[in-house]
Amino acid sequence: MIIAIDGPSGAGKSTLGKMLAKEFGLLYLDTGAMYRAAALAVTKAGVSLEDREKVAEIAENAKIELVGEPDSMRVLLDGEDVSAEIRTPDVATAASVVSTISDVRKIMVDHQRAIGESAENGCVLEGRDIGSVVFPNADIKFFLTAKPEARARRRFAEDQAKGRSTSYEATLAEINKRDERDVSRADSPLTIPQNATVIDTSELELKDVFELMADQVRKLSQSSTAV
Ligand code: DC
Repeated sequence: MIIAIDGPSGAGKSTLGKMLAKEFGLLYLDTGAMYRAAALAVTKAGVSLEDREKVAEIAENAKIELVGEPDSMRVLLDGEDVSAEIRTPDVATAASVVSTISDVRKIMVDHQRAIGESAENGCVLEGRDIGSVVFPNADIKFFLTAKPEARARRRFAEDQAKGRSTSYEATLAEINKRDERDVSRADSPLTIPQNATVIDTSELELKDVFELMADQVRKLSQSSTAV
């Protein structure tokens, strides 16, 4: 079973994706973490984000691995644990630039398909192009969204809890800028995939969104075992 979760940053994709993976014993794949790791590899190599050919070459050669259970998942770049390093605002911005490069997207998409297809019990993938490009025939597609202010509030609270110094205004500005880049890029822009269930999480409790999503998964599991 392949479950695709797409949507803008801060809509709750990671939290809900992990909850679904745990509930149904599926593999969880955070595809944004892969773009972030590729962006970090580029920064570490001292290569300009504008140098699209070099960036693609680095993405191709970087060994990016996601290991462990959903709640304690670690991201390894060439064997080094970069789980914390990839979560900084600078890497987020670099990832959104790197992800506009078609050659980089091809490499990531191939990698994501291979992981999803080899997952024995199925896989929950979250990102921006999962239901539209990576797995257009996914069994279930969700598109999670929320107002920019609600997303910025959540991201700011998370940053504060992690002791990162930032402001709500800066977080909102960063989210708006990333949204703009994600929806306007030429290759695989963020869109609502065909047949996706759209959920606006702005005013909903996490547990209620989870129940909505889990219900669909249960229904599908029941109908496939009934056949
Ligand atoms: O979900 P995230 O914030 O960790 O993603 C980081 C960046 O990677 C984001 O700006 C868009 C990009 N991305 C993408 O283009 N396609 C995906 N499937 C996942 C993320």
